[in-house]
Amino acid sequence: MRALEYKQIKRAYAVMSPMYDLLFDKIFHPGRVAAVQLLGVKPNDLMLEVGIGTGLNLPLYPIDCRLVGIDLSHQMLKKAREKVREYGMNNVTLKVMDASKLEFPDEHFDHVLATYVISAVPEPVQVLREIKRVCKKKGHIVILNHFKSENPVIGAFEELMAPLCSQLGFKTDLKLMPLLKEAGLTTEQLHRVNLLNGWRLVRCIND
Ligand SMILES: C[S@@+](CC[C@H](N)C(=O)[O-])C[C@H]1O[C@@H](n2cnc3c(N)ncnc32)[C@H](O)[C@@H]1O
Repeated sequence: MRALEYKQIKRAYAVMSPMYDLLFDKIFHPGRVAAVQLLGVKPNDLMLEVGIGTGLNLPLYPIDCRLVGIDLSHQMLKKAREKVREYGMNNVTLKVMDASKLEFPDEHFDHVLATYVISAVPEPVQVLREIKRVCKKKGHIVILNHFKSENPVIGAFEELMAPLCSQLGFKTDLKLMPLLKEAGLTTEQLHRVNLLNGWRLVRCIND
């Protein structure tokens, strides 16, 4: 079952990669700006971006940090590599990697970012646990995503859409607070961002 989900996600993002920026750059930009700001990056900090995709956040990072970006999809990362070259960023390393099995030691990164990713991964709790593991104590973990609405009508609609959306590579029925609790993360800041304030931006301090 999980293997099938991984296959579906890889296929979905392979298909989507050529048009991803066209579809998702402008509409999700306000959330990206707020998310990178919330990271509180200091000079020379070592950052991890999980599920970096086509690298739309790349120009938002301060140039004096060191960034590692990982993603499951070769095709999405190819687009990110093009941006790294285009922007002449020599502080960025990109790797194909599964976020549920991060190939980094414990407490390796100063801060970790995941934008529009948690609903796209097959194992969201495991991914959050991995993020927590590789982030230094007191480091910032910033998550930006759409989560299931607390409005019963919208929530029911999102449940209804879930099977179709999973074919497209994302979940519409993830609940924020149970997810964070299961992963052992506590919210330090919570904001609503993007169109109709429909996306949630969370900062957890790794404790
Ligand atoms: C909606 S895109 C978001 C991309 C980027 N973070 C952004 O803000 O535009 C979701 C990304 O998560 C990646 N992804 C899904 N499952 C993953 C996993 N298990 N490990 C790493 N990346 C994964 C997909 O390949 C895709 O690039």
